[in-house]
Amino acid sequence: MRFPLSSFWRPISAAVFLPFYAATAQTHVVLNADLGRDTISRHIYGHFSEHLGKCIYGGYYVGEGNTKIPNTRGIRKDVVEALKKLKIPNLRWPGGCFADTYHWKDGIGPKAKRPSMVNTWWGGVTEDNSFGTHEFLDLCEQLGTEPYITGNVGSGTVQEFAQWVQYVNFDGVSPMSALRKENGRDKSWKVQFWGVGNEAWGCGGNMTAEYYANVYRMFATFIPASWGSGSLWRIASGANGADYHWTEVLMRDIPHGLLEGIALHHYSVDWNHRSSATKFTEAEYFDTMRRALQMEELVQKHATIMDRYDPQKKVALVVDEWGGWYDVEPGTNPGFLYQQNSMRDAMIAGITLNTFNNHADRVRMANLAQTVNVLQAVVLTNEERMLVTPTFHVMEMYAVHHDALMLPIDVRGATYTVADKSLPSVSASASRDRGGLTHLSLVNIDINRAQEVAVDIRGGMYASVSGRILTSERVQDHNTFDSPDHVKPAEFKGARLDGSKLRVQLPPCSVVVLTLR
Ligand code: AHR
Repeated sequence: MRFPLSSFWRPISAAVFLPFYAATAQTHVVLNADLGRDTISRHIYGHFSEHLGKCIYGGYYVGEGNTKIPNTRGIRKDVVEALKKLKIPNLRWPGGCFADTYHWKDGIGPKAKRPSMVNTWWGGVTEDNSFGTHEFLDLCEQLGTEPYITGNVGSGTVQEFAQWVQYVNFDGVSPMSALRKENGRDKSWKVQFWGVGNEAWGCGGNMTAEYYANVYRMFATFIPASWGSGSLWRIASGANGADYHWTEVLMRDIPHGLLEGIALHHYSVDWNHRSSATKFTEAEYFDTMRRALQMEELVQKHATIMDRYDPQKKVALVVDEWGGWYDVEPGTNPGFLYQQNSMRDAMIAGITLNTFNNHADRVRMANLAQTVNVLQAVVLTNEERMLVTPTFHVMEMYAVHHDALMLPIDVRGATYTVADKSLPSVSASASRDRGGLTHLSLVNIDINRAQEVAVDIRGGMYASVSGRILTSERVQDHNTFDSPDHVKPAEFKGARLDGSKLRVQLPPCSVVVLTLR
C-alpha cells in the first residue's frame, strides 16, 4: 500500500513539473482563496456523551472516593487532559435515547439520597444517578466546553423541563435557583444549548412529525430563549437520515421564533450487517465509506428544504449524532456499544468533517457519537488505562478549522472502485483562520492507490506549506492498550508549493491537513 514518495516528485520547476502532473494527476482541486463568506462554527466539532455502557461511568466518572484512578471530584484526570487537546466546543448529554427516560431531579442533591433507576435502553443496568447535572456541568468546566443538554420530552413534562432550565440558568430569586444554591452552586451556569427531546420518531416517543411539531411548540413556549445568556438555543429532535418529510413538517409547522436548530442523525452502518470494528473486509469498508459519504447528500437535501422556509438561514442544521456503528467487541455487553476504532473511523471522521465544513452556512453544530468507550469513540479506557483513537487524531488535526472562514473548494478526479461500484477517492475542505493561515484537509479513502492531487489556488499566493498526516499500513490498524501509539499523526512531507500551485501526494487511506503561509 505504501507509495514510493521519491519516485514521484520532480524538481520544483514549473516547466518540468506541470506537464508531469497534467498527464498523471488523478485529482484536481480548485481552492477559492478569495471567495470565503461563511464561518465554520467550532460547534461542528462537538461531542456526545450518553449514560450508556462505560461512557459516563468508568469513562469520565470513577467516583470521588476512587484512589486508584486520579480524578478531580470523581472525574478522570487522564480523560480530561486528553480531551482538552481537541478543544471540544460543546458536549451533548445525557442522551440519546436515555434522555427521554431521565428525570433530572433524581440526579441532584446528596448522592446517598438520590434514587436509582433502570437504564432500559442500554443494557438494563441500574443507574444510581451519582453523575447528574452538577457533575456534568463540572465536567464541562474542567474541559472548557459548552454544555448541550437534551431534555426529557418522551416521558417528562413541560414543567419538569422548564424547571431544569430555571435550575441551571436563572440567577434571580426562584424555587429552582434556591434549590441549586442549596446544592452548593451559587451562580447559574448559563447553558445555551438545549435539545427538546431526542429521536422523537423512535425511542423518544414514536411520534409522527406532525404530532411532534405540536409537542415541540408547547415545550419551546415554556423555555424562553431569554433564559440564560440571552441567546438560548432550542434544538428540535430531527430526522432519521433521509426522512425529508420530518424536516419539511418541522420547518413548516414550528414558528421560527421558537426554533434555533433542527437536528439530524446519521450513522454509517448497515443495520442488517454490522461488521467487526477491526476484522472487516474491503467490501465492508467500501460500504461504510459509501454511507459516510451519504452525509453530503443528506445535508444538501435537508438544507434545501430549510432554505425554502428560512432563506436567511436563521435555523441551524444540527447533526447531533454521527459516526460508525459496528459489532461490539467480543465478550462485551451488547447493550454497551463498545467498539474498537481503526483507520476506517479516521476516514469517516475526515470525510464527514469535510462535509460539515463545506456546508458551514447551514450546519452550525454537530456531535460525534460518542466521546468515550461508546461507538466511534475518541477515547477508550480500561480501568486505569486509557488510549486515544485514530478518530481522536483526526479531530485534533482538524481543530485548525474551528471558527475559521470556509474557503469554497471544488474536487474533481479519481474514483475508488470495488467490484462494480465507485466512490470519489478524495474529499477536501479548506479555511482561513483568524491569524491569516490557510488550512486544507484532504482525505484519500482509496486503500490501494495513492492520489496525485493538483491544487490550483485561485486568488491566493503562498510562500510555504507544511502539514501532518494520519495513515497506517492497513485500514484495520488501530491502537490498543498495549500499543497505544500504533496509529498517530506524523509530519507530512508530500506537498510542494509553487506560488498558487500546490502538488500533493496523498498516500492510500490517509488524512492530511496542510497549512499554507
Ligand atoms: O448513540 C446511540 C443511540 O443512537 C442514541 O441513544 C440514539 O439517539 C441513537 O439511536
